[in-house]
Amino acid sequence: MNTELTSSSTLRTSVAAPALAILGSARSEGNTARALQRLFESLPCEVVDLNQVRIAPFSYSQQYSDDDFIGIIEQMVEAPLIVFATPVYWYSYSAPMKQFIDRFTDLLYSRKDLGRRLRGRKVAFLTTGYAPRPNEVIQAAFGSFCDYLGLEQVGMVYAQEGTVFYDEVPVEAVRECCKALANDS
Ligand SMILES: Cc1cc2nc3c(=O)[nH]c(=O)nc-3n(C[C@H](O)[C@H](O)[C@H](O)COP(=O)(O)O)c2cc1C
Repeated sequence: MNTELTSSSTLRTSVAAPALAILGSARSEGNTARALQRLFESLPCEVVDLNQVRIAPFSYSQQYSDDDFIGIIEQMVEAPLIVFATPVYWYSYSAPMKQFIDRFTDLLYSRKDLGRRLRGRKVAFLTTGYAPRPNEVIQAAFGSFCDYLGLEQVGMVYAQEGTVFYDEVPVEAVRECCKALANDS
């Protein structure tokens, strides 16, 4: 990771960088982490590595002990740009990312207050996989997730094995958004 990509294992209620990335890979220094680093180049981005925090599986009881989910959402509501970064595992999100996304259900029930504060947040989606093209199923799922929660999509980026970007247009959209937000702050 370069110096601009700072990790955030200690959860705080505000973020200094305009971008907050949620990294959900089985390996913290793998292809998805590398693609995230390339996406942001020298732009500041704070990373929450889901391997370094505790996200309990969704529970209908809405009772969780010793869990970091709400702390991360509190960071998110302060972040001008949120990036969800996941490898494609078996045509879907990685397990850590899916477990994290399932917990957004809490924001529709016990923590509606935080769910409301997320509405209108700018979000980007980064995936990596071995396939030469992005997986349309996972991108459609993420699009529906954003629509349901009222999140504003900035771009969906794909990098085969974390290297070459499939399409530079969303890459530029994410970078431009990050630059504009950095200038605003
Ligand atoms: C369990 C597993 C399942 C995978 N399934 C797919 C898949 O369905 N489609 C695909 O394009 N790549 C698949 N891959 C390849 C990874 O998505 C790809 O190598 C990715 O860049 C790995 O990122 P990481 O290093 O952050 O884990 C799979 C890899 C693993 C380990």
